[in-house]
Amino acid sequence: MVWLLQASRLSRTNLPRVILGVCGGIAAYKSVELLRLLTRAGHEVSVVPTLNALRFVGQPTFEALSGKSIKANLWDGGADVTHVAEGIGADLIVIAPATADFMARATHGLASDLLSNILLTATCPVVLAPAMHTQMWEHPATRANVESLRNRGYIVLEPDTGPLTGTDSGKGRLPAPQEIFDALQAQFHANTGALAARHIVISAGGTQEDWDPVRYIGNRSSGKQGVALARAALAAGARVTLVVGHMDIDPPAGAEVIQTKSSAEMHKALTGLMDGQPDGVIMAAAVADFRPAQQSAAKIKKADRYQNLELEPTIDILTDICRQRVLGTKPIIIGFAAETSGIREDLIALGSAKLAAKGADAIVVNNVSNGEIFGSENTEVLLIEVDQTVAPILGSKLNVGHAVVHRLAQLLDQVDSMSRKIKI
Ligand SMILES: Cc1cc2nc3c(=O)[nH]c(=O)nc-3n(C[C@H](O)[C@H](O)[C@H](O)COP(=O)(O)O)c2cc1C
Repeated sequence: MVWLLQASRLSRTNLPRVILGVCGGIAAYKSVELLRLLTRAGHEVSVVPTLNALRFVGQPTFEALSGKSIKANLWDGGADVTHVAEGIGADLIVIAPATADFMARATHGLASDLLSNILLTATCPVVLAPAMHTQMWEHPATRANVESLRNRGYIVLEPDTGPLTGTDSGKGRLPAPQEIFDALQAQFHANTGALAARHIVISAGGTQEDWDPVRYIGNRSSGKQGVALARAALAAGARVTLVVGHMDIDPPAGAEVIQTKSSAEMHKALTGLMDGQPDGVIMAAAVADFRPAQQSAAKIKKADRYQNLELEPTIDILTDICRQRVLGTKPIIIGFAAETSGIREDLIALGSAKLAAKGADAIVVNNVSNGEIFGSENTEVLLIEVDQTVAPILGSKLNVGHAVVHRLAQLLDQVDSMSRKIKI
């Protein structure tokens, strides 16, 4: 089965509507965190706990955090025909945790409770995050059920390995809520084809400016954000060229990779790619602002230590690339700016000034004050656009990647429809 989420469902203000099914397992408490991640990202979430799930987590918790009243009982809400209406109206169903019992019911198409009824009426993608003891997970009945659900097109996530409810440990833990959230984001954006037939150039990692054969001026960039952007663009169907400096991680399979070292090399690679007229450019690399004015061919000796290290400015790649095209035409260019302020208003002011100075279509600003963001999995950014709209995005770097790529796809569609109108 192939699922194509309608593009209209993915509009900026109209994020996919999610049904969060919760089953009666010990990991039910983690569904609360998943609910928070979904609502904070802007999704409308209807929680459908099984009656057994409510033995583990109380209804008021789900109601308070989703901002909606909860229907758990098949026999409540008959007038609304909830058991049919909910499933039909959802853009995605995630069941976390999914118990062995629930998966058995789903496999056989039973409709004995509200959640399994909803599943039978749904036409949207379904993601199940099972959690149970290793013995239950490995039982031939569960194995067969998981296989049958996967064959039906449901996404059944693999449980994590680690400490279980008692003193034992093994496979069967619910994946971390952030991991489930990322899998859902990938599902929202994958197969939409939002960037199909588009060529997107992304820069990632940090540059290194040689001083002598053994020393250089570098920075703390790990390349994780750039790689996450590349993953998101690939998932949206783009052809991706990744121009990388120093990175702590591998680039994703599927991207064409151009390795560079200094800001000059990265500049040359990126301007060369501009000749090929890409549809979008995302500049996530941390590029040096200055470099040693002279490079020494021989290692600088200790005796020379009092010598002043003279620096000179490097080329501003983002500005230079933006100068090569007319604002509002392709390629759409999105820059990243690292600032050291924890105050939102300051970040907006600094980001807006940079956006105007560079001439990009949008800028993603993040606060790098204590350096913790480098190499970390999670981040918090503001996406500022030319019309001064500011959109906060938080969560994993992959989530930021999906959101930025999603916006890039929208901006490209706008530019294309404008140029079609002009031609008419
Ligand atoms: C303390 C406790 C913890 C449980 N944890 C799990 C679990 O992690 N996974 C699971 O599949 N079943 C677990 N069960 C069993 C389910 O609660 C039981 O199969 C129930 O019928 C599931 O109902 P539901 O699928 O309608 O929510 C647990 C039961 C108890 C009493």
